[in-house]
Amino acid sequence: MTNPKYDGLFKPFTFSNGIQLDNRIILAPMTNYSSNEDGTVSDSEVNYYIRRSKGVSMVITACTYVSANGKGFSGEFAGHTDEMIPSLKRLATAIKEQGAKAVLQIFHGGRMCPPDVVPNGDVVSASAVPVEQEGSPTPRELTDSEIESIIHDFGETTRRAIEAGFDGVEIHGANGYLIQQFFSPHSNRREDRWGGSLEKRLTFPLAVVDEVKKVVDTHAKEPFLVGYRFSPEEPETPGITMKDTLALVDALTNKNLDYLHVSVLDFWSKPRRGVEDTRSRIEIIQERVGDRVPVIGVGSIYTAEDALKAFETGIPLLAIGRELIIDPDWVQKIKEGRENEIITKLNRDDQEKLVIPDPLWQAIIHTPGWFPIED
Ligand SMILES: Cc1cc2nc3c(=O)[nH]c(=O)nc-3n(C[C@H](O)[C@H](O)[C@H](O)COP(=O)(O)O)c2cc1C
Repeated sequence: MTNPKYDGLFKPFTFSNGIQLDNRIILAPMTNYSSNEDGTVSDSEVNYYIRRSKGVSMVITACTYVSANGKGFSGEFAGHTDEMIPSLKRLATAIKEQGAKAVLQIFHGGRMCPPDVVPNGDVVSASAVPVEQEGSPTPRELTDSEIESIIHDFGETTRRAIEAGFDGVEIHGANGYLIQQFFSPHSNRREDRWGGSLEKRLTFPLAVVDEVKKVVDTHAKEPFLVGYRFSPEEPETPGITMKDTLALVDALTNKNLDYLHVSVLDFWSKPRRGVEDTRSRIEIIQERVGDRVPVIGVGSIYTAEDALKAFETGIPLLAIGRELIIDPDWVQKIKEGRENEIITKLNRDDQEKLVIPDPLWQAIIHTPGWFPIED
């Protein structure tokens, strides 16, 4: 039986469009580098999702690319053509059969795309400004009509998500990818309608939201979620400040989205600049949003106590990433009063038991400091 102090984690949640979640824990979107060469989902990644979709109330998939030149990783699954609908359907069905809602994360990598995974090595972005890292390619600045076409692509992938049976899409406006590149004064140096002032830097992100919502209004026959993920702040100068982030949050809050999802590595991380506030970014954002739209928090939640503490800030929903790779039974263990059996460090012998596809396993094992790993 659940320890009563964790009852709050298992309170059902209803989105304003009527979609109901059985509990407050969501699988965070995590790229697994394991899709087939042709862009379809592979058996190993479907099995990875099945293993992680029984306890959580909702699964947000790894990002899928909406345009051929938006592919950000080798082994990323595709959402950019109608031929991919059966593959998307296979993923949605696998997740939903375990009892979780399935949300497809839709994305364009922009200047973060490795040249060898996009057609003709043509890496594109808001402006011809590379990522501040040795060896990063200088992207080509998108033309006005190419920008319109990518906005349309976000809508088309949303239509495919609906046809494939997903319960929603999450617009990936975080982690430095194309949507964030348009909002950022670092990567967006344009002087046309897509850049210049803070307001103009919002044009692309908001146009993507409008297009996705329009497609949902036209095509969805049942309630369908539209969420938006963003990263607060950037380290670069110029770069997105916490003040800019709050302007983005205000603009998104007016868009009648089903949820906002903050992307941070640590739930308790604090603003660098842009506000006089000693609280965490998530607390500041939650306060700004109030109860106008539900906020999903995330970041280094490993134990039941960590989750409890996070919920005390008033956020209604919590996404968990790495810990659900390490212990796919995390939710069930808390529900059954076995929270002391939760495993919080990856064991190097457990790849098969944990159903982790090889490319993801290799990335985890060879990236020091990314995951807690047993010595
Ligand atoms: C292997 C891996 C892949 C990830 N891929 C994505 C992704 O495709 N989209 C995204 O928005 N975030 C991605 N993230 C970030 C996570 O969603 C999450 O925000 C981050 O890991 C912090 O949460 P955690 O401490 O619970 O893992 C990824 C994280 C990991 C560990």
